[in-house]
Amino acid sequence: MSETANVVPFPEPAPEERPVLVVDCGGQYSQLIARRIREARVYSELVPHSISAAGAQARRPLALVLSGGPASVYADGAPQIDQGLYELGVPVLGICYGMQLIAQDRGGRVDRTERSEFGRTELRAEGESELFAGLPEDQTCWMSHRDSVVAAPPGARVVAASDAAPVSAFEDREQGLYGVQFHPEVVHTPHGQDVLKNFLYRVAEAPPAWTAAAVIEEETARIRAQVGSEQLLCALSGGVDSAVAALLAYKAVGDQLTCVFVDHGLLRRDEAEQVVETFGRSFHVPLVHVDARERFLTRLAGVTDPEQKRRTIGEEFIRVFEEEAAKLGSVRFLIQGTLYSDVIESGGSGDGVAATIKSHHNVGGLPEEMDFDLVEPLRMLFKDEVRRVGEELGLPEKMVWRQPFPGPGLAIRIIGDVTEERLAILRDADAILQDEIRRAGLYRDLWQSFAVLPAIRSVGVQGDERTYAYPIIIRAVTSEDAMTADWARLPYDVLETISSRIINEIPGVNRVALDLSSKPPATIEWE
Ligand code: XMP
Repeated sequence: MSETANVVPFPEPAPEERPVLVVDCGGQYSQLIARRIREARVYSELVPHSISAAGAQARRPLALVLSGGPASVYADGAPQIDQGLYELGVPVLGICYGMQLIAQDRGGRVDRTERSEFGRTELRAEGESELFAGLPEDQTCWMSHRDSVVAAPPGARVVAASDAAPVSAFEDREQGLYGVQFHPEVVHTPHGQDVLKNFLYRVAEAPPAWTAAAVIEEETARIRAQVGSEQLLCALSGGVDSAVAALLAYKAVGDQLTCVFVDHGLLRRDEAEQVVETFGRSFHVPLVHVDARERFLTRLAGVTDPEQKRRTIGEEFIRVFEEEAAKLGSVRFLIQGTLYSDVIESGGSGDGVAATIKSHHNVGGLPEEMDFDLVEPLRMLFKDEVRRVGEELGLPEKMVWRQPFPGPGLAIRIIGDVTEERLAILRDADAILQDEIRRAGLYRDLWQSFAVLPAIRSVGVQGDERTYAYPIIIRAVTSEDAMTADWARLPYDVLETISSRIINEIPGVNRVALDLSSKPPATIEWE
């Protein structure tokens, strides 16, 4: 590994960020719409449907997108929007429920027709249009609706139809009203992203300027403005979020930042070394590396209850961190790797939302009584954007693409007492598993892949010897967001290699098993 400093690139200044606001009407895909818009390199934010026209105006949006929603637009209590949103002078695109809302609000008609459409549906573009410009006349799209627009608003032209929904899309260039009944944001609409791009680039004239470089420029400026000349602290975990947050802060305020990395001894092979190498040696970020391995092991001795284990690790982490922080003197700010999905989930979007510290997630979740002001440079970013920013900042590929790893680390993958011997075995097994998963090119396709060591022993035979050793369990899952997960169908030959390597190379193991449980009812981790 190199001893020279990585030069953090300084990008061109970004044009001022004017968002496309996605008005959340309660649909399951609202967040996805915002992500798709950002994938088209246009900055986008999710706002509640209760947003006032003045509130929206204050954000100086380039366009509005009204999301889908579960209700009938004419039902009691169905999400409505401030009618002033139509008068902001920016184009409005309605998707599914959003389209029906526009129709109802602007003089068209919505009704329950004989035929609902759910799933893949054939769509025909009709005549020349902005939304379908350059796209095939016939395409497949994803529909999910019982109600239909039976009359487009006066002045709007119908630009697409399906068999069951003659008004599948409309546009009114004069009024800036656009609607699609289908879901352009889901992958089952192959040209969906193109439709969104047409709306963004052709209709809203939004420049594709939201890039990792622009984000870095904007966030570093924001950190500088917030922090001034005060000291700033960051707890590095080895994960991508805290790493990117720390690098942004370092780029913004340099040596005013101190990173504290508490090595609790529960990381996987080479992870601690990688943090020290990357931050200390390569980026020259002021780094306090606390070797607390002994301390944690001592505290964990005899602890077998999963909750007790988590609590013990969490408390010890805070204690160590506090001790280190105290040594640094007066530090006012603490960096936190809160993501946009956390902000949305905690019920807020946009400015002025109270900062939330994840409790379950994150051993880096520090107590509020520590009395820091929080700096959250990732709070407007989705995970994939954090990764892009990480790449742009020069973070090593292994860190950028690291699968999620729980704060309590390997301790919650040893079922039973955590001992040095078991940690060593699990670390070896996990390294083999990761190695083979990467070699098979599967690492990025899996949400997580890891080894679990239940502290039981079984009988085996190796050579002419009877063995009595631990089993290792292979856990690999696919997932979108960790809320649900499916066990991954790993190829047999990959499983075979993992199994024989683990058994042959690790003396303490004589058996490998595969976990075939989905979440729910199982969880991803074993504890
Ligand atoms: P479960 O096991 O509940 O895990 O299905 C869902 C996701 O959360 C991760 N996880 C944690 N992450 N601190 C973390 O930072 C924790 O204490 C923690 N517990 C679980 C888990 O790896 C999975 O991605």
